[in-house]
Amino acid sequence: MKKVKVGIIGCGHISNAYFNAAKRFDILDVVACADINPAAAKAKGEEHKVKAVTVNKLLADPNIEIVVNLTIPKAHAEIALRTLEHGKHAYSEKPFAVTCEEGKKIVTTAKAKKLLVGCAPDTFLGGGHQTCRKLIDDGWIGRPIGGTAMFMGYGPERYYHPSPAFFYQKGGGPMFDLGPYYITALVNLLGPAKRVCAITTKAFDVREAGPQALIKREKLPVEVPTHLAGVIEFQNGAIINMITSFDVWKQGHNPIEIYGTQGTLFVPDPNGFGGPVKLATGGVPGPVISECPLSHIYTENSRSIGAADMAYAMQSGRKHRCSGALAFHVLEIMESFEKSSIAGKHIELSTTCERPAALPLGLQDGLLDL
Ligand SMILES: NC(=O)c1ccc[n+]([C@@H]2O[C@H](COP(=O)([O-])OP(=O)(O)OC[C@H]3O[C@@H](n4cnc5c(N)ncnc54)[C@H](O)[C@@H]3O)[C@@H](O)[C@H]2O)c1
Repeated sequence: MKKVKVGIIGCGHISNAYFNAAKRFDILDVVACADINPAAAKAKGEEHKVKAVTVNKLLADPNIEIVVNLTIPKAHAEIALRTLEHGKHAYSEKPFAVTCEEGKKIVTTAKAKKLLVGCAPDTFLGGGHQTCRKLIDDGWIGRPIGGTAMFMGYGPERYYHPSPAFFYQKGGGPMFDLGPYYITALVNLLGPAKRVCAITTKAFDVREAGPQALIKREKLPVEVPTHLAGVIEFQNGAIINMITSFDVWKQGHNPIEIYGTQGTLFVPDPNGFGGPVKLATGGVPGPVISECPLSHIYTENSRSIGAADMAYAMQSGRKHRCSGALAFHVLEIMESFEKSSIAGKHIELSTTCERPAALPLGLQDGLLDL
């Protein structure tokens, strides 16, 4: 295996997770970073001993093969397209793009240029979700018929994010921010979807950034829905009820539950790599819930595993799991929820994708192929 040289564009809040986890995967070699804000690039460059350059210089560097795009959502498509135009493979944080129109341009350009395009989330490659995948594939809950996917919180501006304005702009909101984790996890478990419907709303027109914001008491105009109740019908017939919200103070649901003809699977937080994975099957006088040991490694924060998997694909010719086709399908599902709410009808999806291959059992730490 040859190391693949990587450049990171976007040196904000999430970038440390990438700089750190990338050191775990032998195939990745982060050699440069850039940001529209040169001070941000300089700070991360010094912290991680990587050269900080301008965005143009990073894109023009002939040694860099993959550009990892950690900019804010509305810059994702622009940076991905510029990456492809420079003849490099593009891997982006979620969401894939802010609209399907942009997403289509990325997929089409990559195909024309014979380059790979990939996108987070890669948390479904973690031990928790790969264990769930194996339990479903091995028939532990029978045929999946339904389930729930629930993310509800009271907004990232109130408790952790230093520059939260983008969460309430186009490409933000709970569906575009957290939805990719949940929907990608569902496609990994159930396969692609067929149609969706939803009703959306927002509790506030303006929100106020919390004490940790760089600009204190910043007013945040809310341009996107912040509470969504939807349904996804998958091609395998399973029907999932979904709620995503930044307007809820507390809730008591499991992140994802899958109901099958023989049992129920309690799936862990898709915004994480670990467990717990719980299963309820059989039993007298009724089903008993038991926690399952995890069958796969990568249970800690392993962000960048998706980019590493893409690097393997570049070298062996096999398919990569966090693919552009998967991310584009997820984007269409997210966009269609809002379309459904406005139109008052179901939206049939025009995209589909292959279910990403399950990770093999028995991987050694730092590797993705046996
Ligand atoms: N913060 C999290 O916990 C988290 C977790 C998972 C994924 N993400 C995703 O990662 C991405 C980045 O999130 P973040 O929290 O790090 O945001 P952030 O605002 O902290 O950082 C984004 C960085 O991108 C830079 N940037 C913006 N536009 C640019 C452009 N056109 N060219 C170059 N640089 C540009 C900004 O200057 C900033 O430094 C988002 O898509 C987000 O959805 C964030």
